[in-house]
Formats: sequence, structure tokens, C-alpha cells
Amino acid sequence: MGDRPRPRMAPKLLDPETLAPFVDALPIPPLARSSGGRYRLAMRDIEQKVHRDVPPTRFWAFGQSVPGPTIEARSGEAVTVEWANELPARHFLPIDHNLMGAEADKPEVRAIVHLHGGRVPPASDGYPENWYAPGRSQSADYPNRQEAALLWYHDHAMGITRLNNYAGLFGLYVVRDAAEDALGLPRGEFEIPLAIFDRFLEPDGQLYYPASQWAKAPWVPEFFGNSILVNGKLLPYLEVEARLYRFRLLNASNARFFRLSLANGQSFWQIGTDQGLLAAPVELKRLAIAPGERADLLIDFGPAQGAQVVLRNEVYDVMQFRVGKTVQSERGGVPATLAAIERPPEASAARAREMTLEEYDDVLAEPMTHLLNGKRWRDPVTENPVVNTTEIWSLINLTDDAHPIHLHLVRFQILDRRPFDVTEYLLSKKIRYVGEAFPPEPNEAGWKDTVKATPGAVTRIIVKFEHYTGRYVWHCHILEHEDNEMMRPYDVLPGTPQSAKPESAG
Ligand code: C2O
Ligand code: CU
Ligand code: CU
Repeated sequence: MGDRPRPRMAPKLLDPETLAPFVDALPIPPLARSSGGRYRLAMRDIEQKVHRDVPPTRFWAFGQSVPGPTIEARSGEAVTVEWANELPARHFLPIDHNLMGAEADKPEVRAIVHLHGGRVPPASDGYPENWYAPGRSQSADYPNRQEAALLWYHDHAMGITRLNNYAGLFGLYVVRDAAEDALGLPRGEFEIPLAIFDRFLEPDGQLYYPASQWAKAPWVPEFFGNSILVNGKLLPYLEVEARLYRFRLLNASNARFFRLSLANGQSFWQIGTDQGLLAAPVELKRLAIAPGERADLLIDFGPAQGAQVVLRNEVYDVMQFRVGKTVQSERGGVPATLAAIERPPEASAARAREMTLEEYDDVLAEPMTHLLNGKRWRDPVTENPVVNTTEIWSLINLTDDAHPIHLHLVRFQILDRRPFDVTEYLLSKKIRYVGEAFPPEPNEAGWKDTVKATPGAVTRIIVKFEHYTGRYVWHCHILEHEDNEMMRPYDVLPGTPQSAKPESAG
């Protein structure tokens, strides 16, 4: 570890603890407006106030805000989005030209938008190499043939995804359906999106992205900013009534995992995860959420009438809820059950794959690269499931860190996590388990698209590859890892009558 380069810090950073907390109202991203299911969202250079007492911050945003406008879609109703790159020609964050796809012969500013969690045909999925430069745009088709869930759109340009997202290029995308409507969950002003992300800010309010000590190779393996922004504000407040609220939470950080709780010790319910509703609400005191993951939460402020309730990450304040003294509206209740979740049996899997998550540490060549299966982006495709077949992927984490692993196109379920002897695996390439398998946490036991692959464990997921054939990607959602080779293309192959398994998974 001692050989690893330490991120070179800016001489001085803004310390959020020196700011007056809870002086700005929580902003709600505007709703994107369409004409007949057609949207146009432009990426622009903007300034945004993150706090009353901090000068405006330069961001790159969809529209005029970070997060960008929220797209509201209905299941089964297709929309088209024209994603226009209207950014300047020069990047304002440190590009590393040694990274795959970010070589010096490429335009400095490139973008391509991916709808995370979307069941999208390959041409509209935002393949990282399909980036385009300022002045160009791409039109993407989103069929929305999927269940109600909180998705999000974000840049995915090869080798600079971490920088473009840090700059602010992301927004929310809500899919709704009749089954969710029928639950009567809090709606309108009682349903609040919360996109939470960490940043480093300089005292003048500007974003600071750490760089290594090598000017020509500034990439850093990961870092955790000390400023936590909620919908683009530092330490905001939200006035709420003493009733039940629904919060649609996204961890939009590059690398930070959040552990969120309410400072008054009250519990809350998680009703949904990445790909939609859970079978039943899960009562929680603390929510652990990795980059890329979403959580659908219900919080009842009824018992906290007239009080101020602070949302915390570990011991740090994130935002404040100011609970009203009176209740103007129906308080609402937590439904007992939410959705029927089909559990694909392990026996339905046509194939099992073992995938390693590894650290490749060559201090002479580059600081520290993380690889999937020991392969790099440009190596030939190795994951090539046949459409309409189910597979079990074992994510064998050989590193010291948890990696949030995300697959495009599909939804999956977590089967279990099981500790194994990492040292022995490194020597013999054989898995020797050293403990029992743990089932997923109750709040992960629904449809997922991003899974925490914990260190020292084999995390197994069961995935049905369906809906489209073609080229997609899977990767770690720590964006610094993703940008430096912890991402692989995969192909969904067309089925043949012999190889395609029948649809019956249950
Ligand atoms: Cu949210 Cu491939 O990413
Ligand atoms: Cu995705
Ligand atoms: Cu990773």
C-alpha cells in the first residue's frame, strides 16, 4: 500500500462544517418537458449556488441544474430523448490521457448518455465508445417496457465518465405503472427525489477533483469528498408536514458509499430498490447505499410533529427536515405488501460464470488498476449469454474494497454472499469457502441492477438475459475504477431453437 500514490490535494478546501447549516431550501429538479413523448436535453456549462454563503459553482449540467430535469415516464409508453452536447471544447477537470479511450488524439470533451436501469435497445444504451463532441447530439429511444422504478441518466463517455459525472452530467428518470399507482403511496409534493453525491469544493466554491502527483497521469483510484450535496445543495432543509413521505433516493457519488440514518433515531421503511418495489416494506434504522444504487423510502414524520429531524451520513449532517406543527392532509400508512417478486430458481440457469474482481498493481506502469476477470476493455468479449437464458454470475472479489457491480440491460437478483480464502485463491485459482453463505439483506431482496460485491466474498447473482440482443457493458460503478479498465463489453447473442431455454423461469 505504501507505494500507492496519494492524491495531491488542493492547497485549501472548503470545510462544510464551517458553513451555516440548513439555510437553503432543498431544490427539486424541474420536470423535463416533452412534446408528444419527444424530449431534448442539452448539456451545458452552468453556474449553480450550492450554499447561501458559497460563491456560485461551475458545473456541467443537463439543462440549467444539477441534477438535470427529471423525466417522468409511464411503463409501456416509449419516449425519445435528443441528448445534445452543447459543452465547451475544453474540459475543466483533469483528463488522464493514459486511460483507455481518453488518449490525446481524442477530443477533450466528449459525452454519451446512458439510462441506468433502462431496458434499452443497444443503439440507444449509451455505449461508452459512441461518444460525440460538442456541437453534436444523439437521439435515444426508451421503450419503457419495464416496471415502475427510479432510473437515472448519466454520461458514460470512455475514459472520462468520472469527470463528466463529477461535473454534474446526470439526472433522474422515473418510470411509473398501474401496479404502483394502486398502492396509494405518497405522491406529488409528498414524493421527493433525493440525489445525494459527494464533492470537494475549493473555498471559492469551485469543484476540486483530486489528481495524482504525476502531472501526466493524474488519475486517482478513488476518493471521498467532504461536501455532501443533496439535489445540488450543501446542507439543505426541507419543510414537511407531520405525515408520511416517499423519498426516491439515488447515490450519485463517484465512489462514496453512504450510511444514512435519522438523527432522532427513528426508523423508516425501504419499499423499493434499483429496479422497483420490494415484496414488502423493510424497516430500517440505517441505509447502506453504494454508488449507482437507488432506494425507495417511506418516512413518517407524524411522530416528529413540530421537530427538526436531521438526515445523517455516519456522524455528519446531510440535510434537515422541518416538520410542521399541524397536519393539513391525510397522514397515510405504510402498505403491508408491495409487489409479487418472482424468484428464478437456480436450476433455471443455463450457465454459471465465475468472474474475478482484481487489483492489478504495477507501480512502474500505472498506479493501480482494477480488472474484471483479469481482462481489459479491449480484450475480446468473454461474456456472451444467449438471449432468454438465465445465468448465475459469481463475483469473486479478490480486492480489499467493496465494488458496486452494474450490468446494463438486465435486472437480477442476489442469491448470496459467501466468504472464501482470498490468499488461497490467488495461489491456486480455487475457491475454498471459509463460512456459510449469507442471503441478501432484506432491502436488497428485490430486482437489482447494481450489487455490492463485498471484499473477501463471492457474491452470486442470478440474471435472465432478455428483451434485446447486441452489445452492452458491465462494470464497477466506482467511476474511477470504471474509467480505468474495470468495465467490460458483453454480448447478448441471438437464440437458436436448440440453445434458447423456454421462457418458464418459475
Ligand atoms: Cu450507471 Cu454503465 O452505468
Ligand atoms: Cu446502466
Ligand atoms: Cu470498483
